[in-house]
Amino acid sequence: MRIAIIGTGKMGRGFAQALARRHEVVIGSRDPHRAVATASKTGATGGRTYAEAAANAAVVILTVPWQAMEDTLRQLGDLPGAVVIDVSFPYTKREREALQGTSTAEMIQQRLPHARVFKGWNHVHARHLTDPAVDGIASSVLISGNDPAGKDIVFAIARDMGFHPVDAGPLKATRDLEKLVGVMLFVRLGPFRVLSSS
Ligand SMILES: NC(=O)c1ccc[n+]([C@@H]2O[C@H](COP(=O)([O-])OP(=O)(O)OC[C@H]3O[C@@H](n4cnc5c(N)ncnc54)[C@H](OP(=O)(O)O)[C@@H]3O)[C@@H](O)[C@H]2O)c1
Repeated sequence: MRIAIIGTGKMGRGFAQALARRHEVVIGSRDPHRAVATASKTGATGGRTYAEAAANAAVVILTVPWQAMEDTLRQLGDLPGAVVIDVSFPYTKREREALQGTSTAEMIQQRLPHARVFKGWNHVHARHLTDPAVDGIASSVLISGNDPAGKDIVFAIARDMGFHPVDAGPLKATRDLEKLVGVMLFVRLGPFRVLSSS
């Protein structure tokens, strides 16, 4: 499966490294030279601009800061049919207030009405992307989104990376997933395993 990773930071590099063994991973950067260098360090298939990386990708993983999301989406086009994964966390109070009770993933879905948007990995520290097991047990990743077939794809990606995917509900549930990160930071909670998702 062709997976585009948008951004070459800590999360982008972690996803690229974790997925390159099983998928055709193309990494996108604002700087195409950085994209090529990151691809070679992570084992990704190639590095391009954001738009080139996302073109024809079945899955697009957005690993840019929330404040850069609007700019980034403008470069990506409509992404019709693509599974789009938002991992962002709005760090500042101002960013959270600007969401006006909705969530980053819902805002992205509004911007990309023909794509299938999911939220996940926002509660996972970058260093665990390539090492998701704790004491030999796969840690959980909570995934929200509306499209059932798209959710199967996101679950498969999570398993390929060594995570235990948990259905956190429809895209609207992202509002709670984003609050969860605030709580996790406050109590310094690391990777966890959901014992029952029913
Ligand atoms: N770090 C974590 O443990 C963690 C955990 C969960 C969620 N997240 C979320 O994941 C996303 C990425 O986090 P990260 O830690 O990977 O960040 P990072 O190391 O700072 O990397 C972000 C990347 O986004 C791209 N970018 C595009 N526009 C940018 C701008 N205006 N300013 C800075 N970078 C810009 C850059 O790649 P190019 O220049 O190559 O385009 C940059 O390397 C964020 O939304 C964050 O909230 C992070």
